[in-house]
Amino acid sequence: MNTRYTLKNGYSFSRIINGGWQLSEGHALKSTIEKQDVLKAFHELVSRGFTTFDCADIYTGVEEFYGVFLKEHLAAGGKREDIQFHTKYVPDRSVLAELKPKDVREAVHRSLRKLGVEQVDMIQFHWWEYDIPGYLEALHELQKLKEEGKISQVSLTNFDTPRTREIVESGISISTMQAQYSLLDRRVENAMQAYCEEQDIALLCYGTLAGGFLTDRWLGQPDPADWDNRSLVKYRIIIDDFGGWEAFQELLNILKEMSGRYGCRIANISTAYILQKEAVGGAIIGTRSSRHVDANGQTLALKLEREDVTKIDSFLARHPGPKGEPFELERAEDGPHIKVMLRNLNEKS
Ligand SMILES: NC(=O)c1ccc[n+]([C@@H]2O[C@H](COP(=O)([O-])OP(=O)(O)OC[C@H]3O[C@@H](n4cnc5c(N)ncnc54)[C@H](OP(=O)(O)O)[C@@H]3O)[C@@H](O)[C@H]2O)c1
Repeated sequence: MNTRYTLKNGYSFSRIINGGWQLSEGHALKSTIEKQDVLKAFHELVSRGFTTFDCADIYTGVEEFYGVFLKEHLAAGGKREDIQFHTKYVPDRSVLAELKPKDVREAVHRSLRKLGVEQVDMIQFHWWEYDIPGYLEALHELQKLKEEGKISQVSLTNFDTPRTREIVESGISISTMQAQYSLLDRRVENAMQAYCEEQDIALLCYGTLAGGFLTDRWLGQPDPADWDNRSLVKYRIIIDDFGGWEAFQELLNILKEMSGRYGCRIANISTAYILQKEAVGGAIIGTRSSRHVDANGQTLALKLEREDVTKIDSFLARHPGPKGEPFELERAEDGPHIKVMLRNLNEKS
């Protein structure tokens, strides 16, 4: 599998993207992050071609931390263009109704300052509530900032297919869609994937490891009663949407048997399966240490045989997983997802 993915407009990023949520304040619930070890992992990842970093304005402290990494990279003789920073603009739920173009502009400039760059490679735009108008206006301002050279690519995250169509038809050029896509959650397959393929929008997928659940670590383990970090809280709900802990364990057993034959780990299969799907540009893997740096190369080297894909697919056919559009369940005011989400994180920064 290629290490990189290139969009029709020539913009290129690594197929495995280093995810930054894991580094944000409040993500870890028990353990601590060793920042020096993370910086070491970043340098190693870049030297092996994993040059793209995902973050968000709401991942407290992460844009600044990427800025520190960039300074180290430049001081060591590296170039700015060696690295791609994909951040997000996630206006707080509480300000959506009053959002003005100048707020959009200020937010992007804040991200540029924190990252220490003149141009950000990608802004992925998120909108908490479709019932509140304003997302098209905000996106038009992002497009203006792109024309001014402050942003290279304007993208979306967690939008559904009808709104994505509306946005594209309003004349905004969208490069990628960041959405949850994993063996446990295939909601993009309902409509989004086909639309992305039609429009040359690349899917950037989060959750291919379900926060670490789709790895050897959880094989044969009891359903946990408490949590190490917020990713596990989030994806434990998806396991329920998928069919529960027993069905999840059945899936891990299938993947374990396969990984033995390929000489790899469950994590490699979980991500490789998604990377081989139509319209998928990249998978974003949370990086909070140097522990898993080698695994990225192993995942890209893996080619799943047709009969193994069929075996996984026939199991998944019996467990179709969460229903609806991407992020639809997460938006439901009476659902379990919204209770664990923080929708006003910019208030703090
Ligand atoms: N747009 C959105 O709404 C959204 C939502 C969620 C995430 N994201 C993005 O996607 C990124 C991924 O986050 P995620 O929460 O979905 O987590 P994830 O990538 O599914 O899981 C990350 C965890 O998996 C474990 N791991 C990583 N590589 C492994 C390997 N090769 N073998 C075994 N375990 C491995 C690590 O756990 P240990 O550190 O414990 O070893 C790591 O912390 C985020 O950082 C963020 O950039 C975006």
